[in-house]
Amino acid sequence: MNTAVPQTEDAGAAACAGPTDALGTSAAQARSAALEELIRTDPGRFRVLTGDRPTGRLHLGHFFGTLHNRVRLQDLGVELFVVIADYQVLTDRDVADNLLQHVEELVLDYLAIGVDPARSTIFTHGAVPALNQLMLPFLSLVSVSELNRNPTVKDEIAHSRQSAVSGLMFTYPVHQAADILFCKANLVPVGQDQLPHLELTRTIARRFNDRYGAGSAVFPQPDALLSSAPLLLGTDGTKMSKSRNNAITLAATVDETARLVKGAKTDSERHISYDPATRPEVSSLLLLAALCQGRSPEQVAADIGSAGAAALKKVVTESVNEYLAPIRARRAEYGQDRAHLRAVLSEGNERARAVADATLAEVRAAMNTCY
Ligand code: TRP
Repeated sequence: MNTAVPQTEDAGAAACAGPTDALGTSAAQARSAALEELIRTDPGRFRVLTGDRPTGRLHLGHFFGTLHNRVRLQDLGVELFVVIADYQVLTDRDVADNLLQHVEELVLDYLAIGVDPARSTIFTHGAVPALNQLMLPFLSLVSVSELNRNPTVKDEIAHSRQSAVSGLMFTYPVHQAADILFCKANLVPVGQDQLPHLELTRTIARRFNDRYGAGSAVFPQPDALLSSAPLLLGTDGTKMSKSRNNAITLAATVDETARLVKGAKTDSERHISYDPATRPEVSSLLLLAALCQGRSPEQVAADIGSAGAAALKKVVTESVNEYLAPIRARRAEYGQDRAHLRAVLSEGNERARAVADATLAEVRAAMNTCY
């Protein structure tokens, strides 16, 4: 199987800077704009790898943050690999105890939103041995202090509920490099928080090529495609997250959605206006309704005027329920057919294994370890 995909190194000067410093984000934004242009004109040159941890059902924050964008890329003709990162939840006992169920929920969510298994590959990295084997040479290419400095790792460690940091958690970014590079993905859609991980992947690819490539590149240096999606807050006004119980899942029923929105935090001003800086909760509700309606939050606010928070919540509930109705219907339909779910996953795993085996064979040849 030919796993070679064109690299983006020739994507123009705008596509070359490394986003690590304070200016990194704006450099990454400029590069993302240039990449969007290339995707429109030549989607076939890109292979995207992205993924999620199987921690439960996906919610609207995930949907408007990244999921929506994956389907958009797929439908533009970009080749899509979606990893269900089962080895990244082993340290969370509650999740790990129900792993199979969580994995199936994710597959259901993917199918419901329109990830098409005929065109895109959904797989669990635990089922792809050669992917995991890449981690060993990759580990040899990074130092402990580099991992120590990684802000995403620091953040994850700070938010983990563990008393001690496991070696696995500490090395997540290296494993993530294996997730990305096993299929030679050259484009990774990320939120800003994941930029340091991607930077490390680029570093590993570069060091591997320098050390073993003998003048040719075994791995591409993947580009980040920064999401322009605005941040949706949960119903309590903090970041939307399952563990905070403030998230509307894609699978929530119409009534659950109504109840969650009804309980959402707002403020005491009757006139509804979009002002994220001073009215974050009201503005996030407006944003949610606007995303569902395909309009601007200002327009939604103008409609409601001085009708107050109850009117706002009614609009939000109706917009979300209407928008999600076809997704929920598809989810329910796929949920009836567990055999199909498992087939999607085992076919995806098989495809991923073929790609990973080919890459590992190249890596072993480059390292001169074919015995
Ligand atoms: N760490 C990512 C998350 O928490 C999931 C993930 C695992 C991932 N491997 C990846 C994302 C590779 C992008 C690329 O959501």
